[in-house]
Amino acid sequence: MISVAIDGPSGAGKSSLAKRLAADMGFTYVDTGAMYRAIGLYALRAGKDPKDNDAVNALLPQIELRLASIEGEQHIYLKEEDVSTAIRTEAAGMAASAVGANPAVRAFLLELQRDMAKKQDVLMDGRDIGTVVLPDATVKIFLTAAPEVRAMRRFRELEQRGTSQPYDQVLREIVDRDYADTHRAIAPLRRAEDAVELDTGALTFEESLHLLLETIRRRAKL
Ligand code: DC
Repeated sequence: MISVAIDGPSGAGKSSLAKRLAADMGFTYVDTGAMYRAIGLYALRAGKDPKDNDAVNALLPQIELRLASIEGEQHIYLKEEDVSTAIRTEAAGMAASAVGANPAVRAFLLELQRDMAKKQDVLMDGRDIGTVVLPDATVKIFLTAAPEVRAMRRFRELEQRGTSQPYDQVLREIVDRDYADTHRAIAPLRRAEDAVELDTGALTFEESLHLLLETIRRRAKL
């Protein structure tokens, strides 16, 4: 099996790039951030503080998380409900970051993620894929861009969706989330020693895609 691990901070373009790459290469795309977001959303809906590990751990046995590919698009389900859109809010992102610092949540998802990589060629994106989830991944990429660039991209994306927020607020949330993700005790965001670091700051989407594809092909000898 071939596995490609793509890690990096939020807004570096991981998921949109990984989605296209997986489709082009015929790999299954696994968005691990969506899994943390679904658990964060579940906690919020249950009226629990996502930072309260005990409260979240008590919910874990009830959580039925499922990923399915429909017409090439990855969908994520909580029981029978498709929450692919509901998990995309900033609140769900912050909740995801909070539950991501919870060791029981990470253990719960680790098993699911490794299992997926055992059965098929995957392109998996997240924060700890190259360091913890798939330490033997065929190719590891660490995707970055300056916080201001990522905030501007997110700002435009929100504007297009008709849910605009002030740029300063978007930037603050990105900086806060970076801090939380890189400073947590368990599986913090960091580049694996054998990962190729790519900065997409000065590149367009198509240029980033091309660079990633070249890097993966070269490294995986495809
Ligand atoms: O990639 P994203 O923005 O959808 O991820 C949301 C949050 O989930 C992120 O801030 C931290 C957490 N996360 C994680 O801890 N480990 C992963 N492999 C993926 C996401």
